[in-house]
Amino acid sequence: MKITELSLKNFRNYTEETFSFDDGINILTGANAQGKTNAAEALFFLCTGYSPRAKSDKLAIKSGETEAEISGTAISGYGKITVKLRFFSSDKKRVFVNGVETLKIGELLGNINSVYFNPSELKLVQESPEDRRRFMNISLSQMSRNYFYALQRYNKILAQRNNLLKTPDVFIIKETLPVWDLQLVKYAATIIKARNIFLTELAPLAEEKHAYLTGGKETLKMKTESGYDGEEREIADALKTDLKNCMEKDMRLGFTTVGPHRDDIKFTLNGTDARVFGSQGQQRTVALALKLAETETFKKRSGEYPVLILDDVLSELDKSRQKKLLSATDGIQTIFTAADFPSAVFRGKSYSRFTIENGSIKSVKKF
Ligand SMILES: Nc1ncnc2c1ncn2[C@@H]1O[C@H](COP(=O)(O)OP(=O)(O)OP(=O)(O)O)[C@@H](O)[C@H]1O
Ligand SMILES: [Mg+2]
Repeated sequence: MKITELSLKNFRNYTEETFSFDDGINILTGANAQGKTNAAEALFFLCTGYSPRAKSDKLAIKSGETEAEISGTAISGYGKITVKLRFFSSDKKRVFVNGVETLKIGELLGNINSVYFNPSELKLVQESPEDRRRFMNISLSQMSRNYFYALQRYNKILAQRNNLLKTPDVFIIKETLPVWDLQLVKYAATIIKARNIFLTELAPLAEEKHAYLTGGKETLKMKTESGYDGEEREIADALKTDLKNCMEKDMRLGFTTVGPHRDDIKFTLNGTDARVFGSQGQQRTVALALKLAETETFKKRSGEYPVLILDDVLSELDKSRQKKLLSATDGIQTIFTAADFPSAVFRGKSYSRFTIENGSIKSVKKF
């Protein structure tokens, strides 16, 4: 999977600009606040329909403008794909795939697959379980629309269930919950089963990538903590029982205490909890190993590597890890951004280097 072109119109600090990307390595350099991350964000938008950082699409529109556009072309094993996203200050965004408007964002997913990494992905190891679930959701939604739709429906029913739990009428709660829970466990089972398979595939790959990045000095182990196993039917049954057993507690607390919205992944480094004891550099390397493993999972499932977007990752790594990261991206179209470009690390490689200044490409050089 390669993105050949990205065009931006009134997107953040860009007025009108087009990037023609190399099949292999692409580097976006330039001083701080010139638009490197903005371009990386646009690429992720193109692939998933979402921003990796902003909650509101409207923030993507250049200040003072009312409309913005991101469009791009990619080549996959299935041929050429064009995607266009149009943003409006007064309306929802519109998405077009190969010129045809898609009314559901799910139809965009899986067209251009990407793996995105920026320094805040450190949260993946460091912060709340929500960040780890987000990682699984972004990945699995690109791999399977069925997962994405199950997740959307699950979240909707869960929100309704939590609202219901807060109502004072115990009789209504006890009458209504079992009916909703039938639907809830169905979608939950799809989510849990998909995550279990994903993590079973991902864990050994992440452990291997991590050993490579650390030169074998550290041993990563990752484990899921969902607690549900087996086929979807069995997962649904087990969760149904747990929901029933937790009903009194859930009513007391006013929210649902069991289900895939409580899942977590645990990382240990040389036997100790990476979240609690890992240094920033160690946690960053775990997160990076996970993302590299994710690219392999995409490859295994679809036969093609996704596009790898690495925003500001190089500056955070020591020279040895920079070199290893670079080797690990062999054969994958990669877009790096870096304010301080470590050119020595890239010596001998072929790449395109874009210099960004104030929302424009100042120069493109091929090496
Ligand atoms: N909606 C918007 N309209 C206009 N400008 C915007 C908008 N959103 C962000 N910007 C501007 O974009 C610039 C930041 O761009 P970006 O985050 O891409 O910088 P960068 O090149 O990645 O810098 P760094 O090296 O610090 O990471 C800021 O100056 C910000 O004000
Ligand atoms: Mg940046």
